[in-house]
Amino acid sequence: MAFPSLLVLLSLARLGLGSIFTTPTQVPASKKYDFIIVGAGTAGCVIAARLTEDPSVNVLLIEAGVSDNGTESATISVPLLAGSGIGTMFDWNYTSTAQSGLNGRIIPVPRGFVMGGSSSINSMIYSRGASDEYDRLADVSGDSGWSWNSLEQYRLKNEQHTPPWNNRSNVGEYNPSVHGHGPLLTGLTPTVFDADKRVIQTTVDNGAEYPFNLDFNSGNGLGFGWLQTTVGHSARSTSSSAYLHPALNSRSNLDLLLHTQVTRLVSTSGKLTFRGVQVAQTATAPQYSFNATKEVILSAGTVGTPQLLMLSGIGPSHQLKNVGVTPLLDLEDVGANLQDQSIVILQWEVTGTTLSPFLNNATAFQDALAQYAFNKTGIAAGNTVVNTIGFLRLPSNSTLLKAGDPAAGPNAPHFQFSFLVSLQSFHRFAPTTGNWMSVSIVVQSPTSRGSLNLTSSSAFVHPTINPEYYTTAFDIGTAIQAFKTLRGFLTTPAWDGFVIEPFSTVAALNTDAEIETYIRTFANSLDHPTSTAKISKITEKGGVVGPTLLVKGATGLRIVDASILPSSPAGFPQAEVYIVAERAADLIKSAWSLS
Ligand SMILES: Cc1cc2nc3c(=O)[nH]c(=O)nc-3n(C[C@H](O)[C@H](O)[C@H](O)COP(=O)(O)OP(=O)(O)OC[C@H]3O[C@@H](n4cnc5c(N)ncnc54)[C@H](O)[C@@H]3O)c2cc1C
Ligand SMILES: *[C@@H]1O[C@H](CO)[C@@H](O)[C@H](O)[C@H]1NC(C)=O
Ligand SMILES: *[C@@H]1O[C@H](CO)[C@@H](O)[C@H](O)[C@H]1NC(C)=O
Ligand SMILES: *[C@@H]1O[C@H](CO)[C@@H](O)[C@H](O)[C@H]1NC(C)=O
Ligand SMILES: *[C@@H]1O[C@H](CO)[C@@H](O)[C@H](O)[C@H]1NC(C)=O
Ligand SMILES: *[C@@H]1O[C@H](CO)[C@@H](O)[C@H](O)[C@H]1NC(C)=O
Ligand SMILES: *[C@@H]1O[C@H](CO)[C@@H](O)[C@H](O)[C@H]1NC(C)=O
Ligand SMILES: *[C@@H]1O[C@H](CO)[C@@H](O)[C@H](O)[C@H]1NC(C)=O
Ligand SMILES: *[C@@H]1O[C@H](CO)[C@@H](O)[C@H](O)[C@H]1NC(C)=O
Repeated sequence: MAFPSLLVLLSLARLGLGSIFTTPTQVPASKKYDFIIVGAGTAGCVIAARLTEDPSVNVLLIEAGVSDNGTESATISVPLLAGSGIGTMFDWNYTSTAQSGLNGRIIPVPRGFVMGGSSSINSMIYSRGASDEYDRLADVSGDSGWSWNSLEQYRLKNEQHTPPWNNRSNVGEYNPSVHGHGPLLTGLTPTVFDADKRVIQTTVDNGAEYPFNLDFNSGNGLGFGWLQTTVGHSARSTSSSAYLHPALNSRSNLDLLLHTQVTRLVSTSGKLTFRGVQVAQTATAPQYSFNATKEVILSAGTVGTPQLLMLSGIGPSHQLKNVGVTPLLDLEDVGANLQDQSIVILQWEVTGTTLSPFLNNATAFQDALAQYAFNKTGIAAGNTVVNTIGFLRLPSNSTLLKAGDPAAGPNAPHFQFSFLVSLQSFHRFAPTTGNWMSVSIVVQSPTSRGSLNLTSSSAFVHPTINPEYYTTAFDIGTAIQAFKTLRGFLTTPAWDGFVIEPFSTVAALNTDAEIETYIRTFANSLDHPTSTAKISKITEKGGVVGPTLLVKGATGLRIVDASILPSSPAGFPQAEVYIVAERAADLIKSAWSLS
């Protein structure tokens, strides 16, 4: 074993603090870890912080990506810049396979490559989704502990509501009683735009068709209302800022190893006991290994988790042999069932205030960033781009529902509209003047399912990611219906005198065939992939994990991340991932009698 480097000595000098290692050689060979967590992402940071509440527990958290603490980190922490981490050093830069439902296009599949994982680069929307979603989780897993009602304490443990930087009153825009006391900070927009007021006015004028929903975090998944985001104290709140940094800064029983990818799970004491991990920093760098005495917890996400399972011989045996991996545990559903939601955006030129003039004025934009840097106030200090949202169901007599209803239940939506107060366009010749509103359409309960497959036995070769967007009649039909519903919504009285005209590509959409072509030409990923290691009942042969999230047929190995969700959640996945992780931490504590 190598001598401890100067860096180890420096990090050990952080008395009473967790160590931060940047190469595997810095991890002291003598140190015994109870738990090794793979991935310091959304779920992984929650597990690390909760398990180390027990001072007798030692945890090693291993993250492939970078620190969220460097000079470039403003890109991901300034609320106005949300989205700009995509395609940078903070992104794994995965892409999909050519999608038959998108005219053969290959599209980006961003995933966070940084402390906090995807919670550090996402669009910050915090929306727990319909209670039906959690009741389905309970049903699919055969464990009533996953039901909406049973999970209340974990919802409250995760999050707390904060005012926007300018203290704008949020009375009547959310329900304080459904919010908790957790470390993750959420809040509402500091700035209200004309379009937002008109969305709410539509619910006043026509509440039967377009009901007002006071709080999408209440379990009510339907209607129109104000959108909450993971912004607090003028900055993005992530699983790293909320859970990991505070734990590292106050506990000596949590160590973080950055810039290091877990390349394989290693069986220890018996073929199907996986308490070891192999790691490396690059494809050609030396491999090191670490063992946990209690469990290895996989929180590498919907892409990383199934990839790592398969690299380790856990997955569909026939497929693993094809890429030169020796099968150890035959689990057909590893990498299968992949679902994602897709987004398509439509644009209208409007009167009234929008963000367009600001976004088209480089001076104003730079001034806003300078003001933010100076005292964390101004337009950069809060979410402003999308403030209102609506979730709707198809009409109950819709022919699209003849083959069955894919929603989690009667209170879960089929599609969603987000109202963006600027021009969001994939069009090269988008105008740079005027005021614009964009509305995104998302099918919330897609029925298309694809897969994730290995193409190599090397952990450094990306797996293939094939969500099969819009490959079912339900998915494309629902998107077309959503577009028509939206057009109707925008012709209600509240929109009189606001909408000038649709953008030329949108104006040309008349027939279903034209709408379908538009969707297949412009749709992208909403970056919500799930279900590649899905949960199932303990008695069921299918699925990858049982109700306590232990891998079926293996010992010492658990999965806690978005890959276990049985379906793409109708809503936004990060809140559900946080809540699942909060309960999983308690399940682990209880399995090992920890406090
Ligand atoms: C651009 C974008 C926008 C989004 N917008 C929203 C939104 O507005 N609202 C919402 O609710 N959801 C949104 N999502 C989705 C949401 O962020 C994710 O569903 C959720 O964060 C997933 O959490 P996770 O714990 O499963 O994985 P992640 O948070 O992705 O964590 C996985 C971690 O594991 C690490 N890792 C992977 N493989 C290895 C390995 N082999 N070794 C070591 N480390 C590894 C990764 O680097 C990462 O840090 C968005 C996602 C993206 C990418
Ligand atoms: C973040 O930066 C501070 C100050 O430079 C340092 O003490 C700390 O260890 C860093 N944390 C991480 C996780 O990089
Ligand atoms: C993703 O792409 C960007 C831009 O090319 C690059 O800087 C970054 O290093 C890439 N991310 C990873 C994890 O390789
Ligand atoms: C908002 O309220 C907080 C707490 O009362 C106060 O410290 C802050 O200065 C206020 N900010 C503004 C812009 O009014
Ligand atoms: C991990 O455990 C295995 C099996 O018991 C053992 O062969 C290996 O040396 C251990 N690795 C470390 C780093 O302790
Ligand atoms: C990819 O995985 C899916 C689901 O496990 C499987 O049906 C398909 O055959 C695989 N494709 C290849 C090329 O192995
Ligand atoms: C752009 O913003 C600057 C700074 O706020 C302002 O002085 C200028 O008038 C704006 N330009 C236009 C064309 O609106
Ligand atoms: C922050 O700075 C801006 C100028 O850059 C100033 O107008 C504003 O009053 C300051 N706000 C607070 C709360 O200090
Ligand atoms: C569904 O019901 C509505 C209202 O009763 C009616 O207008 C519509 O034509 C029906 N649609 C179908 C497909 O039957």
